[in-house]
Amino acid sequence: MEKVVVDPALHFAQLHQSLTNGGALVVSVDSSERPNPMTIGWASMGTAWSRPVLTILVRHSRYTYECLNTTGDFTVCVPYPQTRSVVEFCGTRSGRDCDKFVKCGLTVLPSQAVSSPGIAECGVIWECRTIYTSDPDTDTLAPELVSTIYGGGDYHRIYFGQVERCIADPDFEKRFAL
Ligand SMILES: Cc1cc2nc3c(=O)[nH]c(=O)nc-3n(C[C@H](O)[C@H](O)[C@H](O)COP(=O)(O)O)c2cc1C
Repeated sequence: MEKVVVDPALHFAQLHQSLTNGGALVVSVDSSERPNPMTIGWASMGTAWSRPVLTILVRHSRYTYECLNTTGDFTVCVPYPQTRSVVEFCGTRSGRDCDKFVKCGLTVLPSQAVSSPGIAECGVIWECRTIYTSDPDTDTLAPELVSTIYGGGDYHRIYFGQVERCIADPDFEKRFAL
């Protein structure tokens, strides 16, 4: 069934549920235009600069970090709970070493508003254009976060993506709840 355009805020509850129960997926493309999915556990959504914005945090060591800095856009995709093994794979293997779309049998779904594609097997997809990035300032970050999250270095970069388009399966809520 073809996905339909929806309000970016409509399925935020399910995105949050994914983030806290195994992870959601971010897709970006590398310099050869090969798409690379990566599992994320951290993201936030709201309004900034009078526009819908989805924010993700990506460590400098990730292949996704290179991709995001190359292309300037990304998609955030909500997997169905039944595809947990895919989320595990994309959260433990790097696109530097394998093609995760091929290894997981995922289908590339071209986006309309950005160059990074979505994943056809996912229920909701936000197409985001990076409008701002920020690296945490450890002088102003709460000390307990500096020691617990960044004790070993490998900082996150925070990517603010303006949501250009959001699509979802028409029966997403029913299938997600099964
Ligand atoms: C549940 C889960 C959540 C994760 N969340 C993030 C995240 O928010 N940011 C991040 O940089 N890495 C996160 N990771 C780690 C990356 O997904 C993992 O290192 C991945 O293999 C990187 O892939 P890449 O090198 O192809 O970008 C998470 C991993 C798991 C399993």
